[in-house]
Amino acid sequence: MNPESLMQAARDVAKCAYAPYSHFTVGAAVLTRQGHVYCACNVENVSYGLTSCAERNAIFKAISEGEREFVAIALAAPTCVTPCGACRQVLQEFATGELKVYMTTLEEAQFVTTTLAQLLPNAFHFEDNPLPKTL
Ligand code: THU
Repeated sequence: MNPESLMQAARDVAKCAYAPYSHFTVGAAVLTRQGHVYCACNVENVSYGLTSCAERNAIFKAISEGEREFVAIALAAPTCVTPCGACRQVLQEFATGELKVYMTTLEEAQFVTTTLAQLLPNAFHFEDNPLPKTL
């Protein structure tokens, strides 16, 4: 799948966003190494902190379908935004730093390409932080 098709999938699913508080509708489409695409939107809550971003929902959906390897994620929003810090860490859990990240607007006016490594340099890895031997 090419980047534009992945970004269009993200724009399409943004229409499902449940964002009555921010009115900021976001869609994410994640591409697996096998070529499958999983899409999700942001889902807000009246208790604002319970809101779940589109990127995390897309990754969790894919993981729940048995996927583990990801090569790209596209993000579509009213403005061209980067994934929030929490979503970057969740992406890092299941992807290498080589993960491509495409960010675009809902109106297709522009897009930006980067990688997870650029968005989250010096990421936390469990192997770098072994538990003390006494535990
Ligand atoms: N949001 C996302 O879904 N992804 C992002 O990368 C940025 C923020 C959502 C969360 C909330 O529903 C709304 O956008 C405003 O922050």
